[in-house]
Amino acid sequence: MAISTVGVIGLGTMGAGIAEVISRNGYSVIAIENSTAALEHGRGTLEASTARAVKRAKLTEQERSALLDRITFTTDMPALASADLVIEAVSESLELKKAIFAEVDAITPPHAILATNTSSLSVTDIAVATGRPANVVGIHFFNPAPVLSFVEIVRTVVTSQEIVDEAVAFARTLGKEPVVIGDRAGFIANALLFGYLNHAVSMFESKYASREDIDDAMRLGCGYPMGPLMLLDLIGLDTAYEILDTMYKQGRDRLHAPSPILKQLVTAGLKGRKTGRGFYTYEAPGSPVVVDAVDTEAIELGPTREIASVGVVGSGTMASGIAEVFAKAGMDVVLVARSGDKAAQALSRIEASLDKAVSKEKMTQEERDAALERVRGTSSLRELSYADLVVEAVVEDLEVKKALFVELDRTCKPGAILATTTSSLPVIDLAVVTKRPQDVVGLHFFNPAAVMKLVEVVRTVSTSDEVVDTAIAVCRALGKHPVTCGDRAGFIVNALLFPYLNDAVRMLEANYSSANDIDLAMKKGCGYPMGPFELLDVVGLDVSYAIQRTLYLEFREPGFAPAPRLEHLVTAGYLGRKTGRGFRDYVN
Ligand code: 3HC
Repeated sequence: MAISTVGVIGLGTMGAGIAEVISRNGYSVIAIENSTAALEHGRGTLEASTARAVKRAKLTEQERSALLDRITFTTDMPALASADLVIEAVSESLELKKAIFAEVDAITPPHAILATNTSSLSVTDIAVATGRPANVVGIHFFNPAPVLSFVEIVRTVVTSQEIVDEAVAFARTLGKEPVVIGDRAGFIANALLFGYLNHAVSMFESKYASREDIDDAMRLGCGYPMGPLMLLDLIGLDTAYEILDTMYKQGRDRLHAPSPILKQLVTAGLKGRKTGRGFYTYEAPGSPVVVDAVDTEAIELGPTREIASVGVVGSGTMASGIAEVFAKAGMDVVLVARSGDKAAQALSRIEASLDKAVSKEKMTQEERDAALERVRGTSSLRELSYADLVVEAVVEDLEVKKALFVELDRTCKPGAILATTTSSLPVIDLAVVTKRPQDVVGLHFFNPAAVMKLVEVVRTVSTSDEVVDTAIAVCRALGKHPVTCGDRAGFIVNALLFPYLNDAVRMLEANYSSANDIDLAMKKGCGYPMGPFELLDVVGLDVSYAIQRTLYLEFREPGFAPAPRLEHLVTAGYLGRKTGRGFRDYVN
């Protein structure tokens, strides 16, 4: 069947975007709203979005007016009598959707495909409200629909294969990458996204970290296009609440129970970007310009200590990367390894990295020579007696780290700050073995340290304000972006990232979708730089399993229990890229 006329019901954020992308691809669109005011609002959204596309040279002025001309705006449902396909995009209420589908079923020709853009409700429940459930399918777009190229095609147990094929072919004509999946709350992407978003909200609500720090951590630590709180504002807090509520009711997973503040914001009418205020305040309703963001890099600090000379303990990738970062910023660095050989190896790693920076024209030969000159390698902790700051980056073993902190406390001068780069152990456990717990802080760098801008500054219950502020000042001097958080397993990034990766493994285990389709969903639907299975294989399944286990043991959250498949792969020695096999096979 040839589709030429498409009805879109509901012109909110999603409906307007869907109508735009369909019309842009040459289809006639009948755009329906239930009131003139809502219709005009939807028209305004389309006009603004297409004007932005013209400004960005994605459309010509002529194409824009042809696009708008192809859309008939109406409040008259019977106008759908000529539609070959109808896509419903009203708010997430099952009763409302069922009523609309029953009405559309009576109006549209028998061949018409009836599709819902629901993000979490059961497509089957909606389908049975019509006399043609075999023609009902889910076509789930991602916000902003004109930009994100992923579409989930949801088949129910009664959807006919022919209709699924037509929906797939239609999505391809829009330039989208469709994936066909079964009818389960949240489908692929939302099921993996919303647990993470909800967790970020609870971090914010409990004041574990600030709004900006949570968002910056995920953008800079994971390369996400937006932080979770700003993304929630884009999605709409009412929509997010409804999705979480539906997912919770279907799976009874506490991690999907909407964080209380979401309900409060929605009740107060602060539904995100579309109303001009949600977690952030925007220039105007619908505007992407935030007017109340705090410039965390400019926050004034209290008294700080002077840091001129730095010690780094360890000789692995993190230790050499951190030593390089300090040396490049003009500080003298003593790198202490377990042996002279190991120290020499770390120094040659630093040299190679600096050479690479020169060859990529990121620094001059003179700058390289000066940086290298500033790093000294040794196997003696005694050489740290003059350091103002020591950063420990040895193996993630609590006993080894504790023994080291006892030594550092004995060796370092009074007032020297002792920092750990641990990513999963409690910083307070290290602080209490010293006589200076107020001077112990977490400085969690990301790998590769020379490249990644983010550093999590971890404050324990004992760390002094002066030490936290000094740590922040040091990060700024290094050209890094510090975020501060409390001393909980996973800090911000790992606590938000790994449960999502673990959920992806569970989804695979449940045979809901394939690793390729799940990776595609998160890359194309949410703009992530890597899919969860690609990332797990890069990070290493042993490392991922250990972090997930730590999170589980700290929070005792059943939803954080490591997925059995992850554990089995680790047991089998399939650890990801480094062993040539993980979720995928690699040619090393
Ligand atoms: N038509 C065509 N292209 C357009 C356009 C339009 N109407 N409007 C913008 N664009 C293009 C821009 O030209 C730009 O392309 P370019 O880089 O080649 O110039 C690109 O789209 C990005 O647009 P902007 O410059 O306006 O914005 P940003 O670069 O700041 O990116 C963003 C904004 C696209 C929202 C990005 O931050 C992003 O991808 N965020 C993640 C969004 C996400 O995760 N969405 C999924 C949410 S879940 C969901 O929707 C499911 C639902 O059920 C809740």
